[in-house]
Amino acid sequence: MGSTFARGTRRATAARKATGARKAVAAAMPPSTPLGHTAAALSERLRRLAAQIPRGSAVADIGTDHGRLPLGAVIDRDARRVVAVDLRADPLAVARRTLATAPAEVAARIELRQGDGLAPLAVDEVDAIVIAGMGAASIVAILEAHPDRVTPRVRLVLQPANEWALLRRWLADAGRTPVAEEIVWERDRPHLVIATDAGPWTWTDDDVDFGTSRAGEGYQRWLAQESARLEAIAVCSDATAAWRERVRAQWQRVSSASTPAGSTGSGAAAAARRGPRRGDR
Ligand SMILES: C[S@@+](CC[C@H](N)C(=O)[O-])C[C@H]1O[C@@H](n2cnc3c(N)ncnc32)[C@H](O)[C@@H]1O
Repeated sequence: MGSTFARGTRRATAARKATGARKAVAAAMPPSTPLGHTAAALSERLRRLAAQIPRGSAVADIGTDHGRLPLGAVIDRDARRVVAVDLRADPLAVARRTLATAPAEVAARIELRQGDGLAPLAVDEVDAIVIAGMGAASIVAILEAHPDRVTPRVRLVLQPANEWALLRRWLADAGRTPVAEEIVWERDRPHLVIATDAGPWTWTDDDVDFGTSRAGEGYQRWLAQESARLEAIAVCSDATAAWRERVRAQWQRVSSASTPAGSTGSGAAAAARRGPRRGDR
């Protein structure tokens, strides 16, 4: 145990170091540098994922592939460390090339590791785990394989490529609280971005099936697409018919909230006019 003065001095030194590191990163990042270029090249989906990483945290990016999310974590969220994991050597070679475009100060915070899911991480090594671009069942399998790495202090930032409800159900059963959720559209495809912390939350069936936010342009557009898809089905199973009824009810809610009386409407109505698109749930 040190004295209050010694603790204060250590805190001040640590703060100075952190500020120094931030300044080094900032100095290395005018828009004309390769890093500025890389940051600009982050897709909207990756940018929105990175936005859910707590500032200054240690992060794991599982299934990093091209390695761009780790750069976003350092650039946008000042991540103090990123462990970028991939199962295969080829994606890691691509990630290595991506890191080579970044200033040394940024690349130094990112470590590439080859391995399966959370296995390459030590217990308590990170504050946030990102898993993006994999199917929901794969994400769940990765999380379930190493419960000792998914401790209550860890934020999960997930982007399932399919079966959104399956993943939300798992998060509900795992005692997770949603902190942010949105549907990001990219190249005419919807991508769910969901961040959770550990904590109490009573997940309703609507939370699981329609999401915990149920607001925003991305959500309205997804609902319009799902509604159009279901309304086009002439003969369907009881399960699909039941789902169609629930989508109709959601659609009513969104439409009445976004369409002032007497207007032809915007938001949900405009999304509906755009017609059906291929989607996910
Ligand atoms: C479709 S890419 C997604 C890349 C990136 N996360 C994104 O969202 O743009 C999936 C990556 O996950 C990797 N992957 C698949 N299963 C994995 C596992 N169990 N552990 C680590 N990486 C895995 C694949 O090798 C591939 O590079």
